[in-house]
Formats: sequence, C-alpha cells, structure tokens
Amino acid sequence: MTAASTQGSVTDLEYDPLDPDVKQEPYPYYTVLRAKEPVKWLPTLQAFSVADYDNIDTLLKDGQTYSSAQFWPELLGEYDPVPEELPMISTDPPDHVKLRKLANKAFVPTKVAELKDRTYQIANELIDDIIAKHGQKGEFDWAWEFTALYPVTVIAEVLGVPTDRRGEFKVWVDLILSAANRAAYGPEKLAEIEDAKVKTRDFFEKLYDERSAKPGDDLISTLISTEVGGVTMTRSQVLSMAVVLLIGGVETTTNLLGTVLVELKRHPDVYKRVRADHSLIPALLEEVLRYNPPVQIIFRHTTKDTELGGVAIPKGSAVMPLLASANRDETKFESPDVFDIDRKIDIPLMSFGQGPHFCLGSYLSRMEARSALEVAFSRFAELDVISEEIHWIDSYFARGPHTLPVRYTAA
Ligand code: HEM
Repeated sequence: MTAASTQGSVTDLEYDPLDPDVKQEPYPYYTVLRAKEPVKWLPTLQAFSVADYDNIDTLLKDGQTYSSAQFWPELLGEYDPVPEELPMISTDPPDHVKLRKLANKAFVPTKVAELKDRTYQIANELIDDIIAKHGQKGEFDWAWEFTALYPVTVIAEVLGVPTDRRGEFKVWVDLILSAANRAAYGPEKLAEIEDAKVKTRDFFEKLYDERSAKPGDDLISTLISTEVGGVTMTRSQVLSMAVVLLIGGVETTTNLLGTVLVELKRHPDVYKRVRADHSLIPALLEEVLRYNPPVQIIFRHTTKDTELGGVAIPKGSAVMPLLASANRDETKFESPDVFDIDRKIDIPLMSFGQGPHFCLGSYLSRMEARSALEVAFSRFAELDVISEEIHWIDSYFARGPHTLPVRYTAA
C-alpha cells in the first residue's frame, strides 16, 4: 500500500505547501503530483512546483535558465550580514564557477576529514552536559539539547571561532536563521535579529583581520589564502562565504539528526540492527536522507520563457523543485515509500541538490552526523523517542522535528 492510499483516494489530494496537513506529511501529496501534474502552478505561492526526478535534474543543471540570484535576498531580506556581496549559493554561472572552485579547494574532503576527532569530542562533551544535568537515566529533548547545539559547534570549530565566544555565536546564528520568517515577527524580535546581524558582521570582520595577520588552520584562514589561477577571494566574499556556511550547515544537519531518531522510532527492527552494528550507520543516514530529507524544496527563477515537462513557464517565474519528491520517484527508486537501509541506490539522491550548486557540505554533514550517532549509541544504552506523534517544524521547505523528547539510560 502506498503512503498516498493510506490517506484516502490518490486523486483527491490538492497540493498546497502552506496547508498545515501538507507540512505535517507532504509525501502522499508528492505521489499525486508525480502521477498527475509533475509541473504544476501553485496559486498560493505564485510558483511552479516540479515533482519528478528527471525534470528536477534537468532544471537544476541549467543555471542559465533557472537562476539562483533571488534565493538569498528573499531568504534573509534586510537581515543579510553581508548585503554587498551575493553569496555563492545565490550566484549564477559563470561567476558561480569561480567562487565554487575557490570554495571547493578550501573544503576538500581531506581537510574535512581532519575534523573527525573533534566531532567525536564535541558530541561527547554535549552528552556529558546532558548527563550532568539530567542524571544517569531520565528524559531530555534530543532536538534542543543535542541536535540544535552539535552542528553549530562543529561549524564554529570549522570557522575557527574561539571557544569562549561560542555561546554568543549560537544565539546570533539562530536569530539570523529566523530572518526567513521575518514577515511573521513584530518589532521586538526584528530588533533582535538586526542586532545579531550587526554583531555577526562585526565578529567576522575582526576574525578576518586576525586571521589575515596570523593565519591558523581554520577555514577562514584557508579561504583568505586560497588561490585558483592567481585569483583569491575578496574580503566581502570571505565574509559572505562564512555566513552562507552558517545558514547552510547548521539547521540542515540539526534536522537530519532529529529525523534519524524519528525514523528509528518508526522502524524498531532497523533500530535494533543499527544498535547492534554501528557500521550500518552510514546506510541508515543515506536512507533517512532519501526518505525524509531536511531540505524538501529549493528555489529558482526563470531568466527567459521556457518549457518543462510540457508546461510553458514564462520568464521571471518562481520555480520550486520538490527535492524530497524526487527521492520518492517510483521510476527511479524501487518501492520508494518503503524505508529500507539495505536498498541499493545507483543514482544520486536529490537531498543535497544537483548541478552547479550541489551542496558544498555534503561530505561534512555525513561525517558529522555519523560521528554524532556513533557517540550517542555508545554513550546511551537506551535512547528512545517517547511519543508516536511528531511535531515537525513549521516550514514548507525545511523538515525536522521541532521537539523530540527521548527517554535515556547512560551506558
Ligand atoms: C544534511 C545536511 C545538509 C543538507 C540536506 C543540505 C542541502 C543542501 C542543498 C539542497 C543545497 C543546494 C541549494 C541550491 O541548489 O539552491 C545545498 C547547498 C549548499 N550547502 Fe548544504 N546541506 C547540508 C549541509 C551543509 C553543510 C554542513 C554545509 C557547510 C558547512 C553546507 C553548505 C552548503 C553550501 C555552501 C551550499 C551552496 C553551494 C553552491 O552554491 O555552490 N550544507 N545544501
């Protein structure tokens, strides 16, 4: 039985990403879209959604027609700490290629792999804090007390943020991330976001000066000095890259680690196997990334009149590739609605996007998520989500549990 047919007739589901039922469980709606209208006009968002793997792949690989330029300004609005410089994620070819080459060089897997020991250490320290606070046995909120803190601490480490500034840093990052929902906030909250924006800018300006004068082995130092074809990044480009790493790398990995425990609650047989054999953790992560990914939707705008899947799309249209739907495309994945950590996947998942903007942090996020789970499964003899009912964050493009109370026993 497909997920769609568990919720009623396949044909009676009308996709509107803003509908609370869709936000809670979007997958049956994606099934209907792929079957009936892979490219569909959405009146509430004034955008075209694209639901099938091949059309998403095509559009993401065509950065000339499907531009990313409006993505960042729309996400952060006036709360971008580096407004004078569009970041890499919002740059189109050919400029994007130059920036991406520099970033790739600074972010190579060997460099990221050097962080592995620190990720174990960070996960262990957070779990020490949890046990110190709640005792050897009890309950805590996995989403807030572990997954919300861990990726931001790893990124702080990557960027070379001094340990004594990390508390403030976490507060600023959360506030800047919340600018995506600025339309819903009153003046008090907006003033806090503005303050975080100014402090973040200030902080990175000073860090830039320090690292230029005295380079360390952190990413800011590497970004400052990296050269491709005699070209280095400008000061604004380095600052902008630091901010994009924060925005791109924090909430996504937080949500992935939250959803992993949700899926383990729903699939106790899998949990039992992974508990007994930690070498299954990478396969578990891949299946969670496919089945219930942290980034459901990304955004593009057309630079000219075009056509996709037989649908005419005028110049200047907003287009939303539904990445999470591509991962359930029945023409690409066998029994896509089945959660199966043993499945053989022979095409790229869409979870990290595709084409020129393919996630710079895919290697880092997989590595840090793996370390976190290895540590958590070793340190907790019992770690179980308490409730069957999951409250997902209130977003139509990001997905992860808002809170996740767990019962635990320290090992
Ligand atoms: C599970 C975790 C993650 C997921 C699901 C994820 C997802 C994505 C997706 C879907 C894109 C494509 C955006 C687009 O095409 O518009 C992207 C791009 C990007 N991500 Fe990630 N990401 C994750 C973790 C990270 C981490 C840890 C970092 C960095 C520390 C990071 C940095 C970036 C950057 C810089 C880009 C832009 C690349 C470019 O424009 O060339 N991401 N990510």
